[in-house]
Amino acid sequence: MKVVIRRSADKGGGEQTFEIADAPGETIVELLELIRRQHDPSLAFYYSCRNGLCGTCMMLVNGKPALACLQKIPSRLDGPLTIEPLPGKQLVSDLVVL
Ligand code: FES
Repeated sequence: MKVVIRRSADKGGGEQTFEIADAPGETIVELLELIRRQHDPSLAFYYSCRNGLCGTCMMLVNGKPALACLQKIPSRLDGPLTIEPLPGKQLVSDLVVL
């Protein structure tokens, strides 16, 4: 699976592509944890409750707002999976917004 993540200027900006052999777990948060653990420890994202209650993990997944703790990794994709910070918010770093 190809995962394209928009990086913030402090991490070089632009999009970064990660090749993930096997999707870990089921959710976008689990995927991001694997990318940070195995590919890039500098990847910034934030979550808290992991239950869909706090909203801190909201981001764009394939262009649509989603709670990353609940959003399932799509089983079939025509292209890469894209993950971007939520627009219209103050960007802190990578996928973290205020
Ligand atoms: S971590 Fe709280 S809604 Fe996702």
